[in-house]
Amino acid sequence: MDLVTGAFSFTGRYIAARLLEDGGEVRTLTRRPRSESPFGDRIEAMPLDFSNQDALVAALRGADTLYNTYWIRFPDRQTTFEAAVRNSSTLFEAARAAGVRRVVQLSVTNADPASRYPYFRGKAAVEAVLAGSGISHAIVRPTLLFGDGEVLVNNIAWLLRRFPVFVLPGAGCRTQPVAAEDVAELCVEAAGERENVIFDAAGPDVLTFEELARLVRESVGSRARPVRGGPRTALTLARLLGAITRQTVLTREELGALEDDLLTSAAPPRGRRRLAEWVSASGADLGATFASGENRPWR
Ligand SMILES: NC(=O)c1ccc[n+]([C@@H]2O[C@H](COP(=O)([O-])OP(=O)(O)OC[C@H]3O[C@@H](n4cnc5c(N)ncnc54)[C@H](OP(=O)(O)O)[C@@H]3O)[C@@H](O)[C@H]2O)c1
Repeated sequence: MDLVTGAFSFTGRYIAARLLEDGGEVRTLTRRPRSESPFGDRIEAMPLDFSNQDALVAALRGADTLYNTYWIRFPDRQTTFEAAVRNSSTLFEAARAAGVRRVVQLSVTNADPASRYPYFRGKAAVEAVLAGSGISHAIVRPTLLFGDGEVLVNNIAWLLRRFPVFVLPGAGCRTQPVAAEDVAELCVEAAGERENVIFDAAGPDVLTFEELARLVRESVGSRARPVRGGPRTALTLARLLGAITRQTVLTREELGALEDDLLTSAAPPRGRRRLAEWVSASGADLGATFASGENRPWR
């Protein structure tokens, strides 16, 4: 049995699906009700409650590998990044107490203790906690993930379907999207290794934001005109849209990370699935509804 945090959410769902396909048994820790399970009764769900260490240990007992996807996209009234680091540490402690053999930790490309972005600093802090824990581990650092259930590309499509212009944040934003399926495969492979490892999970193509938007535009048959508005205009419009939809559409930090190329990798890409192929296959559904990215990291 393996434990996947957030198996009803995005990346965790892909990891759980991979494990089930391989004939494994999966348990999850989640805030979500069982009714949200895309797996029916095939996955046992327990509450992700960091204040109850005994319950965490009990949930983790008998698990071979903990696949940890837990993180927050931005701080809110309930959880700061510092708290998310502490929560991750609590989870690793529980894993050790429960005798879990290996932890596979979802991090992010360019996690750095000196980063000016709290998200990337926090991820580096969690990596350091895990590295110092003595538990056998793999740290997988994805770029921007794509796949069914993701938010960013979907919401670009949503905008392109509805408005005559699409404001680009600037020429400098680049990303190297990786398929959630590829990340899941890499995580499961890394669970099977013995050495402690850390590696980037990036896709085969580096795209500017403009190339990404044009790809989506073509796929959904939009006639919206992409215009370069600059980061400040893009952020202002994202906030306006956020006020209407009651969502955090794009944070300053997320835009900054894209401008600083933090969602690209210097290593040879390990992901093989191409964003262009997924976008063209998903065209009919992409952006049909606005996807909620409330505290779901990097949507
Ligand atoms: N998505 C990307 O493009 C991307 C890129 C780079 C790195 N990553 C990393 O990959 C991992 C998975 O990302 P994802 O986008 O797939 O995220 P996600 O599924 O939306 O969330 C991951 C997990 O975090 C939990 N979570 C989120 N906010 C929480 C809160 N306030 N309190 C308690 N639990 C909370 C979710 O719990 P529930 O199941 O209860 O919702 C879920 O278990 C994260 O560590 C993220 O940093 C993602």
